Amino acid sequence: MNTGSGDRTGVAGGACSGTPWRDPKQQPFIEVRSLTKRFGDFTAVNNIDLHIYRGELFTILGGSGCGKSTLLRMLAGFEEPSEGRILIDGLDITDMPPYERPVNMMFQSYAVFPHMTVEQNIAYGLKKEKLPRDTVRQRVKEMLELVQLPELARRKPQQLSGGQQQRVALARALIKRPKVLLLDEPLAALDKKLREQTQFELMNLQDQLGITFVVVTHDQEEAMTLATRIAVMRAGSFVQIGTPSEVYEFPRNLYVADFFGSINIFDATVISWENQDITVELDGTGTRIQTRHPKTLASGSRCQVGIRPEKVLISKKPPEGAGQTVTRGVVQDLAYYGNRSIYRVRSEAGRVIQVSAQNYQRSAELLLEWDDEVFLSWDSSCSVVMTE
Ligand SMILES: Nc1ncnc2c1ncn2[C@@H]1O[C@H](COP(=O)(O)OP(=O)(O)OP(=O)(O)O)[C@@H](O)[C@H]1O
Ligand SMILES: [Mg+2]
Repeated sequence: MNTGSGDRTGVAGGACSGTPWRDPKQQPFIEVRSLTKRFGDFTAVNNIDLHIYRGELFTILGGSGCGKSTLLRMLAGFEEPSEGRILIDGLDITDMPPYERPVNMMFQSYAVFPHMTVEQNIAYGLKKEKLPRDTVRQRVKEMLELVQLPELARRKPQQLSGGQQQRVALARALIKRPKVLLLDEPLAALDKKLREQTQFELMNLQDQLGITFVVVTHDQEEAMTLATRIAVMRAGSFVQIGTPSEVYEFPRNLYVADFFGSINIFDATVISWENQDITVELDGTGTRIQTRHPKTLASGSRCQVGIRPEKVLISKKPPEGAGQTVTRGVVQDLAYYGNRSIYRVRSEAGRVIQVSAQNYQRSAELLLEWDDEVFLSWDSSCSVVMTE
């Protein structure tokens, strides 16, 4: 599970240092206004507003069919919006053909030319621009190294694996150094290790060249690792836009919470809300929790309280300290993963709570066993209240 440590906001020296989206004086580089795409009476993209800032690596995350590719294709100019406008660097490009836009796109079904070698495929975009031969050769060499294909430069696509073909497509999209690069599932065909490596290469490249990336993915870990911000998309709309740690730590609703790893959910009732301080009461146990919630909630209204498994402490002795939510239970299941263990604990109220604990000690010294009676506790401020 990723804990949002990949949050890239405030990276010193990065192309997108700081948090321009929090500064109302900053001009967005890409501005999407009330964008809608209908296919017949089906709405694939529904009235989306979006601001992306220069040098961001913005990811769009969502399940299959939620409209990610359609949105990207409209940005690239391959799909005409039913309504709305798209601006890049202040210029309205909605009616501009794809080749005039300062944008390059790598498609989900990456197209490489079958009759050209890897090298020729990568060089294609630059050759068309009639750049000097040496420049082309140098840039192709850089790209081949970037995607780790130098020794396959003379092969044709049918002599490559799916993942290798995808890397050729990625190199082809990058070599023209566009202002905006749209990548639709760019790393989907790569194996885990190469994907992680390429993720870091993408981030480095973006820092070096200052390209603004918009990356579509359905892999939440990838989004967490890469993104300055993530937009979670569902059925043509954005459910939440935020930094990796915001969407992880403060999911707006269950859909977002569930999308980013495991979470324990409790049904609850709002007792009071004042100036963002909220008190809720958990069903069943009547346990009261005080935490923060940005939006006004009426007393008596229903909500859910979420707590991530790694925020829950498990111990044999009662925990000490104030501001804790505490419950007792019995270890029902445990799984050892080397660096951490996952416990499933049946609480007094009869529900199962998942706990993810770092293994500070060696396994032989692990103290907890099946059927042990334990205390579970967490800092109440780590609870997140959700209402949708
Ligand atoms: N040309 C088209 N005509 C009709 N419906 C379309 C067309 N293109 C896309 N759709 C529909 O619009 C919806 C969004 O499609 P889109 O390709 O944007 O999804 P996606 O989020 O990229 O999904 P995936 O993760 O599977 O690639 C889908 O329900 C799809 O069937
Ligand atoms: Mg798609």
